[in-house]
Amino acid sequence: MNDSKGAAQQASGQKTATLTDHETGESYELPILDGNMGPRVYDVRKLYAQTGAFTYDPGFTSTASCKSDITFIDGEKGQLLHRGYTIQDLAENSDFMEVCYLLLHGELPNRSEKTEFESAITYHTMLHEQMLYFFRGFRRDAHPMAVMVGAVGALSAFYHDSTDITDPHQRMIASHRLIAKMPTIAAMAYKFSVGQPFIYPRNDLSYAENFLYMTFAVPAEEYVVSPTLARAMDRIFILHADHEQNASTSTVRIAGSSGANPFACIAAGIASLWGPAHGGANQAVLEMLQQIGSKDRIPEFLERAKDKDDPFRLMGFGHRVYKNHDPRAQVLRESAHEVLDELGKRDDPLLDLAMELERIALSDSYFVEKKLFPNVDFYSGIILKAMGFPSSMFTVLFALARTVGWVAQWKEMIEDPGQKISRPRQLYTGYGPRDFVPQDQRD
Ligand code: SDX
Repeated sequence: MNDSKGAAQQASGQKTATLTDHETGESYELPILDGNMGPRVYDVRKLYAQTGAFTYDPGFTSTASCKSDITFIDGEKGQLLHRGYTIQDLAENSDFMEVCYLLLHGELPNRSEKTEFESAITYHTMLHEQMLYFFRGFRRDAHPMAVMVGAVGALSAFYHDSTDITDPHQRMIASHRLIAKMPTIAAMAYKFSVGQPFIYPRNDLSYAENFLYMTFAVPAEEYVVSPTLARAMDRIFILHADHEQNASTSTVRIAGSSGANPFACIAAGIASLWGPAHGGANQAVLEMLQQIGSKDRIPEFLERAKDKDDPFRLMGFGHRVYKNHDPRAQVLRESAHEVLDELGKRDDPLLDLAMELERIALSDSYFVEKKLFPNVDFYSGIILKAMGFPSSMFTVLFALARTVGWVAQWKEMIEDPGQKISRPRQLYTGYGPRDFVPQDQRD
C-alpha cells in the first residue's frame, strides 16, 4: 500500500492511500480519515464491494470499529482521557457522579446539573420487589458475576416504559436506571452469597456510600460509612468507568447494534468482562499473589509466565493498548498505600509481595521487551480485599463502575446516524461443497 506521508490527494481534497493487489494488478484508492487525536484510519467500508476481498484482523488489533468522542487512550504515552480530561485529574479532583455525567453528556456538570443528575440516579436505586426472587433461584455459592449476568438480564423484563431505544427520553431513563441499580444488585449478590438479609438503598447517602452501606450494613446494628473508604470506593469507580472499545464495551455495542433491549446488552457486557483476560483479572491477580505466597517464589512464577508451554500468565500485567504504563495502575498503587494506611494495614503482606513482583518483573528483559506493565487490575484487588470484599466480588465492582461506560458507548452508538448492525465476515477454511453420506455408509 502506497501511503507516503504526503498521501495521495484526490481532486475532491479527500486524502487517500493506494492499495495495489500485485496478483491481479488492480489498484484501489482507500480514503484516509483523521480523528482529532490518535492514529488515522484507512476507510475500508467499500473494500469488499470494490475488490471482492475482506480485511483480516482477528482480535481487532488494527481495527477501528467505530467513531467515538468519549474516551481516548494513547498506549505509548500511557494517556487516558475522558471527554478530554485526564484520568489523573478526574481521579484527583472529581467524583464518580460527575464522571458519569461527563461520559453521558460530554461536559462536566455545573452545580444545578449535578444536583439534578444525582437526584435522578438516587431515585432509581431501588429494584422492583419481584427482582428479589431471581436471587433466590441461585445456589448460595454461585459466583456473584453469574448472579449479575442473570439479574441485570432480568431487568429487561421489567421496564417496558424505557426500552424504546428510538426515544431519547427513554434511552436516558434506561441509562439512569442501569447506573443507579447496579450497586443495589451488586450488594444484593454479595449479601445473598453470605446469607445475610438484603439492605435497601438510602437516599441520604452518596453513590459510593450507599454501595458500601448496602454491602456491609446488617439490620442488627448501625453501620457508619467510613469517609476514607467511601472516597477510595468512589475513586476506584472513576478509574474503571470507561476504556474505549475494550472487549466488554465492544460486546455491548455489537449486542446493541441489533436494537436489543438495553438491559440485555449490559448483561452481555457483564458476561464478557467476567473473563480472566479482561475484568476477571483482578480476582485472578489476588489468587496469583496468594499462590506465589512469598517473595522467594517470585522468580519461579516469572519463569512460568515466560514459558510458552505453561498456560500461566502474570495476571494484572500486559495490555492490548498500553505499551508504556497503565495510568490507572499508578493511581491505584498510590491509593493502595492510602487505604491500607487508613485501615492500619500498612504492612499488608500482599501489597508488599505485589510491589516486589512489580519491581522484579519490570527489571526482567522478557517483560520489558514485550512491554508488559501492571494494568488496572494489578493493584485494585489488594485495595478491595483490604476494604473487606471477597475476591469473588472484585469483578462485580469492575462491572458496577464500567456500567456507565457501557451505557455511554451504547447511547453514542444508537445516536450515530451511520450506525448499522455489526456483522463481521470471515476467512473460510472449511470444506467445499460435498455430497451427504447416509449413516449406514459412514466409517
Ligand atoms: C483489562 O482492553 C482494555 O481496555 C481492557 C481493560 C479495560 O479497562 O477495559 O483495560 C481491562 O482487561 C486489563 C487486562 C487484564 N488482563 C490481565 O491482566 C490478564 C493478563 N494479561 C494478558 O492476558 C494479556 O496481556 C492481555 C490479554 C491483557 C493482552 O493481550 P494481547 O494484547 O492480546 O497480548 P498478547 O496476548 O498478544 O501478548 C503479547 C505477548 C505474547 O507473547 P508472544 O506470543 O509475543 O511470544 O506477550 C505475552 C504473550 O504470551 N504476554 C504475557 C502476558 N501478557 C502478554 N506473558 C506473560 N504474562 C502476561 N500477563
